[in-house]
Amino acid sequence: MTHAPLVLSGMQPTNTLHLGNYLGALKNWVKMQDQMPCLFCVVDMHAITVAQEPAELARATREVTAAYIAGGIDPARSPIFNQAQVPEHAELAWILNCVARLGWLDRMTQFKEKSGKHKERASVGLYTYPVLMAADILVYKATHVPVGEDQKQHLELARDIAQKFNNDFAAPDFFPQPEPVIMGPGTRVMSLRDGTKKMSKSDESDLSRINLTDDADAIAGKIRRAKTDPEPLPENKDGLAGRPEAENLLSIYAALSDRKLEDVIPDFAGKQFSEFKNTLADLTVAKLSPVASEMRRMLADPAQIDRILRDGSARARAIAAPIVAETKKLVGFVG
Ligand code: TYM
Repeated sequence: MTHAPLVLSGMQPTNTLHLGNYLGALKNWVKMQDQMPCLFCVVDMHAITVAQEPAELARATREVTAAYIAGGIDPARSPIFNQAQVPEHAELAWILNCVARLGWLDRMTQFKEKSGKHKERASVGLYTYPVLMAADILVYKATHVPVGEDQKQHLELARDIAQKFNNDFAAPDFFPQPEPVIMGPGTRVMSLRDGTKKMSKSDESDLSRINLTDDADAIAGKIRRAKTDPEPLPENKDGLAGRPEAENLLSIYAALSDRKLEDVIPDFAGKQFSEFKNTLADLTVAKLSPVASEMRRMLADPAQIDRILRDGSARARAIAAPIVAETKKLVGFVG
């Protein structure tokens, strides 16, 4: 049996979204909307795997919803919803927790990074985080999952869980093997302060990232102050070896202009960073400021955002409920 193509992806409502989230995920989601049916989730239940202030969680959930729409997702075509309003995610996650093996979760690098030195003090939720993520995808039998490169290991786990469930319950092909869709030059945007570290919401330095809500001056200032090396820009891709900051800034330029990295390099070959940075700042402002202003406009009417999430949640539940019912029957639950 082949599964009907369906996209599912999501982002955590923690802090504000940044250029990495935009280029690694959101921009690609918008493209996929034209290729197959899509569902986009705001993963508020994942957010609480680390402590969240409740009012801030609600604010960030609305802000991420606004970012999806301002970035080009059409909620009439692709339901946008928050995970907590679709209880089927948590219900399936429990069943999948009993399918996944401790040894599999022990290998997850994100838990190791996020739990730090004191793993015994991390929440149990942080540990089983990837199982909830597998449930997010499998609860719709989604086939394609557009994400940044950092989510690859979680996607592999989701595939393993799907396969083990199908084997354990003698239901070959019940869950699909979801495909990670990791595309374009922006799948791993690095920190502006250190080209070997991922751009991240949790980096202490705000200069390390461009937030979707930054104004033009902030964007230009951060790009101007971005770390570089003393050499002029290279002639070709080989010339980027050992130059992570140059590679990162050129990749951002390529992703924002919808071109390949190798195609943009000749435009700046032999030029100084200062000149390239001006061009990059102009392009970044041109691409992000319409998103930021649309987000501001939407956030002025939170009731409208809540309506969009309620509507999206109802449509998502209509897909998830029969799949969970079938899953429970396979497991042997009476009802
Ligand atoms: P999150 O909230 O950390 O990030 C959201 C999306 O942004 C991508 N991303 C990046 N891409 C390129 N460069 C970067 N520096 C960068 N930083 C983040 C992420 O890869 C992601 O695609 N576990 C997920 C959320 C999730 C999910 C899901 C995703 C929960 N359930 C089901 C897909 C399907 C996460 O924490 O993403």
